[in-house]
Amino acid sequence: MADNSELWLQQLLTQHGGRASFAVVMDWLLNDSQHGFYGSGRCCFGPRGDFVTAPSLGSGLADLLLKQLIPCFDLLSEQPGKLSLIEWGPGNGLLALQLVEALLALSPPWLARLEILLLESSAPLRMVQQETLKNSTIPCYWPEPDELVNEPRRGIVLAHELLDALPVERFVLFQGNWHGLDVVLSSKGEFEWQTGRPLAAKSVEQLAAMGLETNGGNRPEGWCSEWCPSLEPWLQQVRQGLQQGWLLTIDYGHPAKRYYAPTRDGGTLLAYRAQIASPELLAEPGSWDITAHVCNTLVEQLATTTGWCWQGAELQGEALLRLGLAQLWSELSTPGNAPISWRLARREEYQRLVDPYQLGGFWWLQLCTPGLPGMVPLLSVTG
Ligand SMILES: C[S@@+](CC[C@H](N)C(=O)[O-])C[C@H]1O[C@@H](n2cnc3c(N)ncnc32)[C@H](O)[C@@H]1O
Repeated sequence: MADNSELWLQQLLTQHGGRASFAVVMDWLLNDSQHGFYGSGRCCFGPRGDFVTAPSLGSGLADLLLKQLIPCFDLLSEQPGKLSLIEWGPGNGLLALQLVEALLALSPPWLARLEILLLESSAPLRMVQQETLKNSTIPCYWPEPDELVNEPRRGIVLAHELLDALPVERFVLFQGNWHGLDVVLSSKGEFEWQTGRPLAAKSVEQLAAMGLETNGGNRPEGWCSEWCPSLEPWLQQVRQGLQQGWLLTIDYGHPAKRYYAPTRDGGTLLAYRAQIASPELLAEPGSWDITAHVCNTLVEQLATTTGWCWQGAELQGEALLRLGLAQLWSELSTPGNAPISWRLARREEYQRLVDPYQLGGFWWLQLCTPGLPGMVPLLSVTG
C-alpha cells in the first residue's frame, strides 16, 4: 500500500482518469507548485544538497564562460540599445551572481547597457534568486516568457541544466510499433508502468528522423527509451523572445546514434536526491530530481524548424580548455598571496569541470539567430 508521501500523486492521477503519460507525470513530479521538486522549492543544490552543479563548486565556469560571451556582446554593442543576458532555469541564482561579479570586475564598455533577465517557472526559486542577486548593481528582472515574446531582446540566452529537466515521454517497442509508456494507478493505489497508445504519427516521424525505424529496426520487443516533446515549443518560445543573439545550452547529452543505440535499452532517466542516483522514478514523488540526457541531434534538427541557426556541439571539458582553463590551473602553482586551501579547492573544481566522466562530459550546444557568426569563430576572430 502506498504511503502518505504518495497521496498527492495518487490524487492527481485519479483526477486524470487513473493514467497519464510519463511526460505529464514528470511535469508534476518536478513542477507541481505544492509538491514538485522544483515547484515547491524543496530542491537543494550543491555538494551538500541533492546534486552538484558547476556553479555550486565555485566561479570557475562563470569566469571562463564569460570569455566566450564578451565578444558576442562586443559585436551586439555596435548597435545602440539595451543588451540582455538571459538565464533560463537559474536554480538558486548562483551562476547569474558569479557572472555579475565577473562582469563588474571586467567592466566592459557596454556594461551600463546590460540587464540580466531570469526566467524561472518555480515561484519559491524565484524568491531564492532574488535574495541571491539582491545586491547586484546590474539590474536584474524576472519576466514571464510572454513578456519576452512581446518585447524581444538582443543578447544571449543561457540555459544551464535546464533542458535535462524538461519533461520527457517514455516510449516502448510493442508488437513492432512505438507506444507510449504510461503511469497507471493500480486498484491497490500503487504506481505501475503500462504500455499506452501507439505514438502519434508526428512523434514517430520525429523518432525516425533520429534513426529509430518505425518498426523498431533490430531492437528487441520491450526496448524503451525517452524523447523530449517540450523541446520544440521551448526553442520556439526562446527564439520569439530573442530578436538577435545566441542561445547556449549546457547539459548531459548524447547524439541520437548513441542515445538510441539498440544496446542502450531503458534510456537515460534517473532520479537524484542527496547525491544518490536511482532508477526508481516514481518513488517518494516530488522529493527526487528527475532528469534525462538531452538528445543533441534533436536540438540540431529542431534548430532549423524553430528559426535558429545551429552552430555546433562541444564537450564542456574541451570548451573550457579552449577558453584557458589549463592556464588558470597552472597559475595555481605560481607562488602568490592566495591561501593554499583556496588553491587546492580551485584545483579540484577545475578538475571536475574538465573530467569527461564528471562535469567535463556536459555538452555545450550553440545556436544563434540568422546572420550572426558562431560564438566560437567570433571568439577566435576577436580573442
Ligand atoms: C537542474 S536546475 C538548474 C539550475 C541552475 N541552472 C544551475 O545549474 O545551478 C533546473 C532549473 O530550471 C527551472 N525550470 C524548469 N523548467 C523550467 C521552465 N520551463 N522554465 C523556466 N525554468 C524552468 C527549475 O525550476 C530550476 O530552477
